Amino acid sequence: MLVGEKVTLSVIKADIGGWPGHSRVHPQLVETAEEILGRARGEGTIIDFYVATCGDDLQLIMTHKKGVDSPEVHGLAWDAFKAATEVAKELGLYGAGQDLLRDAFSGNVRGMGPGVAEMEITLRKSEPVVTFHMDKTEPGAFNLPIFRMFADPFNTAGLVIDPKMHMGFRFEVWDILKHRRVILNTPEELYDLLALIGAKSRYVIKRVYPKEGHSISKDEPVAVVSTEKLYEVAGEYVGKDDPVAIVRAQGGLPALGEVLEPFAFPHLVSGWMRGSHNGPVMPVPMHQANPTRFDGPPRVVALGWQISPRGELVGPVDLFDDPAFDHARRKAVEIAEYMRRHGPFEPHRLPMEEMEYTTLPGVLERLEERFEDIE
Ligand code: F6R
Ligand code: MG
Ligand code: MG
Repeated sequence: MLVGEKVTLSVIKADIGGWPGHSRVHPQLVETAEEILGRARGEGTIIDFYVATCGDDLQLIMTHKKGVDSPEVHGLAWDAFKAATEVAKELGLYGAGQDLLRDAFSGNVRGMGPGVAEMEITLRKSEPVVTFHMDKTEPGAFNLPIFRMFADPFNTAGLVIDPKMHMGFRFEVWDILKHRRVILNTPEELYDLLALIGAKSRYVIKRVYPKEGHSISKDEPVAVVSTEKLYEVAGEYVGKDDPVAIVRAQGGLPALGEVLEPFAFPHLVSGWMRGSHNGPVMPVPMHQANPTRFDGPPRVVALGWQISPRGELVGPVDLFDDPAFDHARRKAVEIAEYMRRHGPFEPHRLPMEEMEYTTLPGVLERLEERFEDIE
């Protein structure tokens, strides 16, 4: 029994080939990853696992006793991605191996292409957790929903009426450009927090912690978001990477329904076609997480789990597979339609410095001679 002991939950994801284009993951890649992780579970490297997909991203969800940044667990994920890449190459899938940026594994997948959300937790008697998986967007897309879960009283009733939550939470925010971080307390510093995270391409929520006096230690994260590419390239180029997140729920944390509630509003995120457009993020079950229209609109999948006293993953429950989110989906389609009508104009197309694809330098160079000074 691991209750009261440390257990690590790792979500490691990569796009290692799309089928077709950038739309979804071929089932043979899932099977290949399952074989590799199944063997590792048999050998005791990990306690349990599940292989999920969101759009063209393969998602490895694992529990183990090895802590965050474990070379063994990261190496295992790397091996699974490598093996699935071989299958992707055989099938001629699009962009086979695209997120495996290095040839040789060097102890940690950070900076090598895959995205990682991991947390080491002291296992509670009952441990409800949600893993979120987004496609066609970037880590800053989690700023608004994570803020709402842990700091917005209009979203999370518990902040107002549950004595176990009333003291609020602490947010670890990363400044991507200057490669530094700050911890802000809510509700005291709510406005400061919003001043930062509203600029979601520069300031991203990395983790949320409880405060002193909570039944969970103030140094143990209760939410974490993947930010690998941002971390790696800080100060140069803010790379987009379809993000994942882990959120713990209940018992002094947001209830499951408070964790899901922010996604009833399909907020605008950047990404979509060619990583260069704003569009709504649509909450969908896994089988609908296959971006099609204009390579989108961006999707978010929520998988619900109970971690058993032995550390096993009891799930997944495909949480957005629920008519209660039909309205958000319809709204997202409506917003997608509205945004699309802008064609190549901002704010549908991202501002110049945030585009992943651009022809502008070439166009300017060609026109240089023809530009004349104006008074
Ligand atoms: C967005 C995305 C796609 C591609 C687009 C063009 O994150 O992955 O929208 O950017 O399909 O892809 P290429 O340049 O590979 O043809
Ligand atoms: Mg892709
Ligand atoms: Mg993707």
